[in-house]
Amino acid sequence: MTMPRIDDLPAIHQACWQQLAACTADKAHAWRVLGLATLDGGLPDLRSVVLREVDVPARTLMFFTDARSPKVGQITAQPQATLLAWSPVLGWQLRLRVRLSVQTSGLAVSSRWERLKMSPAAQDYLSPLPPGAPLPGQMPPPTPDRDSRNHFAVVLAQVQAIDWLELHPAGHRRALFSADGQGQWVTP
Ligand SMILES: Cc1cc2nc3c(=O)[nH]c(=O)nc-3n(C[C@H](O)[C@H](O)[C@H](O)COP(=O)(O)O)c2cc1C
Repeated sequence: MTMPRIDDLPAIHQACWQQLAACTADKAHAWRVLGLATLDGGLPDLRSVVLREVDVPARTLMFFTDARSPKVGQITAQPQATLLAWSPVLGWQLRLRVRLSVQTSGLAVSSRWERLKMSPAAQDYLSPLPPGAPLPGQMPPPTPDRDSRNHFAVVLAQVQAIDWLELHPAGHRRALFSADGQGQWVTP
């Protein structure tokens, strides 16, 4: 399916944020799972994360993670990161330059954990072993008991710039947007 084309830069910027916000309620939206690239010392690292919340006026995105996961250490050492999204339906790739912050305590964390803790997804944050820990001779990993300590953390991404690329039969288009939404057409 070919989407109708949007011609002006402010409307494209607005549509990008509308689509990001739509992901949180639409499990089928291709942008719901994003590639998150960080630096592991001097080496690039990359993994999938689920987009959980979007604050459009604040230009922030939120993910959930295990506070013990390697990415948390990487983010603490280097908060600058890149998020990648591709939607075949829209024909749009987004490359988002972001500054990340991790929260492991406080109201932002506890309020979300209260909602999450009775759901099956809570298991993701209750493992007695940190993500990536070797499992010597144990498969599957040990299951947590009901009173296990949780390691739930939220990651906030402040969007600093958007690189939007549209693939289209009538010709590809690309635009760069600054944090305040100022747009510039560039060669795809
Ligand atoms: C579809 C999909 C969605 C995922 N969503 C998340 C997520 O929201 N948060 C997360 O920490 N890991 C998520 N993961 C797992 C990560 O990709 C990764 O394997 C794990 O977090 C360890 O990453 P790290 O070693 O870089 O910390 C997801 C994996 C897949 C395949």
